Amino acid sequence: MLAARGYDVVGYDFSAAAVTAARALARRDGVTVAFEQRDIFTLGRDADHAFDGVWEYTCYCAIDPARRDEYARTVAAIVRPGGWLLACFFPLRAVSAGPPFPVSRAEVRRRLAPAFRIERAQPPLRSARGRLGREWLVFARRT
Ligand SMILES: C[S@@+](CC[C@H](N)C(=O)[O-])C[C@H]1O[C@@H](n2cnc3c(N)ncnc32)[C@H](O)[C@@H]1O
Repeated sequence: MLAARGYDVVGYDFSAAAVTAARALARRDGVTVAFEQRDIFTLGRDADHAFDGVWEYTCYCAIDPARRDEYARTVAAIVRPGGWLLACFFPLRAVSAGPPFPVSRAEVRRRLAPAFRIERAQPPLRSARGRLGREWLVFARRT
């Protein structure tokens, strides 16, 4: 989506299968995107303030909640000051066992507060199938 709108995009996932699938989708959509198989927790050390923005969809909920502050610090480290985080958080309601690990609006606000100012937050206009009412779209500015 971002590549189609003219952004230079790098996609990260530590799963080879996810990277392969993402490359196929980019090819199908005729967009140029660099994909890298990589643990995102390693990005802070060599992508310091390297990005104008980060798009996050259901990576947060895949991460052990014990590492969520570290995740927020990593995103803060790689986004330039004044840059943005666009995130669609899911699932808002508890699930029996994670991943996906549950997410709450209050928790997200607390974890982002040290480095981001939330400018908009609302339910997305459309949701993935079966996720209606359980997603929360946030646009936050890196302070
Ligand atoms: C629920 S999937 C979402 C994938 C994609 N955003 C989508 O909507 O199809 C979560 C993804 O996060 C990846 N992931 C989880 N922890 C990661 C980490 N530390 N570094 C890189 N990728 C990670 C998983 O491999 C998985 O592909």
